[in-house]
Amino acid sequence: MAFPEGFLQELKMRNSLTDIAASYINLKRRGRNMVGLCPFHGEKTPSFNIYTENDSFYCFGCGAGGDVISFIMRIENLDYVEAVKFLAQRAGMEMPENSYDDSMARLRKRIYEANREAARFYYKTLYLPVGKEGLDYFHGRMLSDRTIRHFGLGFADDEWTSLTTHLKSLGFSEHELIAANLAVQRKSGNGVYDRFSNRVMFPIIDLRGNVIAFGGRIMTDQKPKYLNTSDTPVFKKSENLFSLNNAKNSGSRTLMLCEGYMDVIAVNQAGFSNAVATLGTALTSEQAMLMKRYADEVIICYDADEAGQKATSRAIPILRNAGLPVRVLTVPNGKDPDEFIKSKGADGPAAFKALIDKSGNDIEYRLQKLRGEHNTDTSDGRVSFLEAAARLIATIPSPIEQDVYAAKLCKEFGVDKNAFMAQMKKLNKRRSREEYRKQQQKISTELSGRGEKLDKDRAKALRSSSAEEALVGYLIRNPDSEKYISSEIKPEQFQNSLMRRFYTYFLDRIRDGKDPLNNTSADFTSEESDKIYQIVQKHASIAQTKKSLDEYIKVILEESAKPKPADIANMGEDELNEYLKKVRESKT
Ligand code: CTP
Ligand code: MN
Repeated sequence: MAFPEGFLQELKMRNSLTDIAASYINLKRRGRNMVGLCPFHGEKTPSFNIYTENDSFYCFGCGAGGDVISFIMRIENLDYVEAVKFLAQRAGMEMPENSYDDSMARLRKRIYEANREAARFYYKTLYLPVGKEGLDYFHGRMLSDRTIRHFGLGFADDEWTSLTTHLKSLGFSEHELIAANLAVQRKSGNGVYDRFSNRVMFPIIDLRGNVIAFGGRIMTDQKPKYLNTSDTPVFKKSENLFSLNNAKNSGSRTLMLCEGYMDVIAVNQAGFSNAVATLGTALTSEQAMLMKRYADEVIICYDADEAGQKATSRAIPILRNAGLPVRVLTVPNGKDPDEFIKSKGADGPAAFKALIDKSGNDIEYRLQKLRGEHNTDTSDGRVSFLEAAARLIATIPSPIEQDVYAAKLCKEFGVDKNAFMAQMKKLNKRRSREEYRKQQQKISTELSGRGEKLDKDRAKALRSSSAEEALVGYLIRNPDSEKYISSEIKPEQFQNSLMRRFYTYFLDRIRDGKDPLNNTSADFTSEESDKIYQIVQKHASIAQTKKSLDEYIKVILEESAKPKPADIANMGEDELNEYLKKVRESKT
């Protein structure tokens, strides 16, 4: 069951894609269209386009495309029904009653509910006798009851069935609990048991206040130290950040990126609510893009140990690529922020504030690292340090910024600035060439990898697939040609199964009198939708005439007349000879 067409039309009319997208990214007008930096992949030059003519978007960098509903699905990480609700709410529209009965949307809703009940249950348990061990643990780590309440921390006892029994009594099914990763199926296949046991619990809450997952810490030195919810229909760890729900309301446009739950909580308790952490994995570009929406700057506050420093070096380019300036906070004496704050007792907040104020930007941080790797007391050491520094400074996009660092270093080491700048200029040139090549390579492998999985037939039948794509693109842009096209080409004559599906779908839509591209998000996956918009944009940039249409038709007919490998294998001897003769003739 889908939403009524009229409802969707009004929804889209009241939610213009341009307005909505402009609340997430900066858009500039270019002719009739709008362009900006794509919110779905990191880029420095804008390739994200909004076509005001049909209120659709397409990114030439990553191939994402669709309408306002698919835009919201992607950027807010919602499913179709949730995205429609989101837009309806925004426009003050009532949702049509019982209009949508989608089992996936229902399951997601149940998982949110189960997670919320689980968080309540864990929190309550913490203050029962059975939770004493957990409460002592948190108190031992200097967390106040106020902080515990603020983060909704809790305790999972070691009975292995307490939560499951409780949630079942509230009407949740085993299937729902397994889908939420709150319970695990027994090996015997008989019943389920709790996913978390004998751990203190950290709920992970999304930007709308839903509990989407948990992290659980064991209270001893046993392994694994932390156990996290696996990916579920409502949670993808690579796309979420711990405590972003708090940080978003901190009133600051700076985010502090920490390594773990306890650091974020300790930093919060010290008065800085703008801290977030990844969830047991290295920082991803999705997380960086997410931060970019709430911050103009990020301070990396990782541990001072080797692992933390390595992670810092990896995180810097990911954040920079997302367009975020970076500062690096250095915690003294190999500690993490949590230990540092605790070690200062009542002076913790002031001491941490001093670290924040002292934190330099990523270039200063990396120059200092480089300096440590060279012995600048010797001439050789100075030369190799300055060469390495020139390579680093050459990676800065802004020439003014480059100049500032170059001047500072030259002055300090008594080097001629012209010589240094000449060296940098050489490096600059080489770098921009290399970067351009890498970028192109990345785009083409990403695009083809994406395409191959979805469109398996394309590589096998390139010529017909190209013509079929062009035909589908023509049909979508010229719905009036439906009668002519369908009289020439039957769906069975398509070689590419994906294009055949699109062809049949759009023929049906046009025959029903619907606008081809209006409200198609419900019928396609986001990859399929990307592909459709890719086809439409590609063929919009090549002028499609009636003559080109007839060319596509000709190619499709030719290709469909060719026998398939399976047919050839089944041919009798005479038939095969006849066929080979034809092939030879057509070649000459
Ligand atoms: N982590 C994880 N699984 C592990 C170890 C760590 O998911 N087995 C993640 C957790 O999100 C944790 C973060 O990595 O918060 C940082 O790990 P670590 O530095 O070991 O822990 P701390 O944050 O210092 O935690 P604690 O102070 O409780 O030891
Ligand atoms: Mn720690």
